[in-house]
Amino acid sequence: MDNSNPPSALNKEILTVGVIGCGYWGPNLIRNFNALRDCRLKTICDRDERRLDHMASLYPGVTVTTEAENVFRDKEIDAVVVATPVRFHFPLAKQALLAGKHVLIEKPMASSAAECEELVALADERNLTLMIGHTFIYSEAVHKITEIVHSGDIGDLRYINSQRLNLGLFQKDINVAWDLAPHDISIILHILGESPDVVNCQGNAHVTPGIEDVTNMSLGFGGKRFATIQSSWLEPRKVRQMTIVGTRRMIVYDDLQTNEKIRVYDVRVDRPPHYDSFAEFQYSYHYGDSYIPHLEQSEPLKVQCRHFLDCIRKGTRPMTCGRRGLELVQILEASSQSLAAAGGPIYFSDEPEEAAPRQESSGALSTKPSAGPNQPSRARKMRA
Ligand SMILES: NC(=O)c1ccc[n+]([C@@H]2O[C@H](COP(=O)([O-])OP(=O)(O)OC[C@H]3O[C@@H](n4cnc5c(N)ncnc54)[C@H](O)[C@@H]3O)[C@@H](O)[C@H]2O)c1
Repeated sequence: MDNSNPPSALNKEILTVGVIGCGYWGPNLIRNFNALRDCRLKTICDRDERRLDHMASLYPGVTVTTEAENVFRDKEIDAVVVATPVRFHFPLAKQALLAGKHVLIEKPMASSAAECEELVALADERNLTLMIGHTFIYSEAVHKITEIVHSGDIGDLRYINSQRLNLGLFQKDINVAWDLAPHDISIILHILGESPDVVNCQGNAHVTPGIEDVTNMSLGFGGKRFATIQSSWLEPRKVRQMTIVGTRRMIVYDDLQTNEKIRVYDVRVDRPPHYDSFAEFQYSYHYGDSYIPHLEQSEPLKVQCRHFLDCIRKGTRPMTCGRRGLELVQILEASSQSLAAAGGPIYFSDEPEEAAPRQESSGALSTKPSAGPNQPSRARKMRA
């Protein structure tokens, strides 16, 4: 249960924003905040001067700086967006919150659950908005799939299978699960509205020693439901596919399609309720029509940026708030523990953790007992 106070509302017509990090993804955030009418993009910060020169040529009215401190010190800036590699998320977001700024951090929220917890506590203490860039939650496709699943149209959900594969971009500080799976995990948790009981993950580092470039993760939920997530930087084709299998219908979501991202299949397999002999036993296959639900065309990142500003103004908690970011990082940490334990299960529990030692320096989950192929580990569950 979340008993904390919501953030305070900031009653301002124009909110002033600074963005830190303009490598690959930052420019998309910059473009969107610059285009929103009730927002003033004041400062872009990056350590790389060539990136800043390029941004300055695209946005001549915007200040550029190599020092994040200049963003935090600026009294006019209400909100800070962090779009740097993951290892910088915590120090930059912490400084921004300490300077009284509302913060949007790109996914994954930070390098460890301990860091995420500290940021959540800091934002709560200071009544500031803390939002995480789980961008797919703001997409029409995910909204529609969630609506269909919650309407009961597909029956009871049996399992979800997700694939996010391509060649590269190889990261140096995080493995492919930390890089790509946040998208799948955030979508799956959003559709199910609950967090998993258990995580397993297997994988291999083929190119950079110690950094897995192919992983297979599985999340187990109550009622025998599960989700599998395959992430890879070593595939010739780009694949972004998810299958949601229900007892009555199945949904295929292909994010690379422009006009037919979702298709609902009226197919199922039933077992006959009664049969007396094996000869009578026959599965009944149902093949019905398939249909493509209509989706409004909107850029998910634009909706995400808009939502961030709305939450700051109204003092409401974002759909992808710090707690959702923490929950996701707990799952990623569990996946790393499972990888180290040759795919062994890492269990989450509804019970508060006992005074098991937390390894702050490595950012590892506290474990009880320690991880091993036959020794399940436990972490605290974020939502029942
Ligand atoms: N939401 C999405 O769909 C999505 C998509 C891609 C990436 N991302 C996330 O965006 C973030 C950035 O990823 P990227 O691919 O753009 O990385 P990148 O390496 O291409 O760019 C990061 C930039 O941050 C700058 N930087 C690093 N430390 C800094 C510091 N302390 N102060 C100022 N600038 C600093 C670097 O110079 C670089 O230009 C990551 O968290 C990534 O996971 C999100």
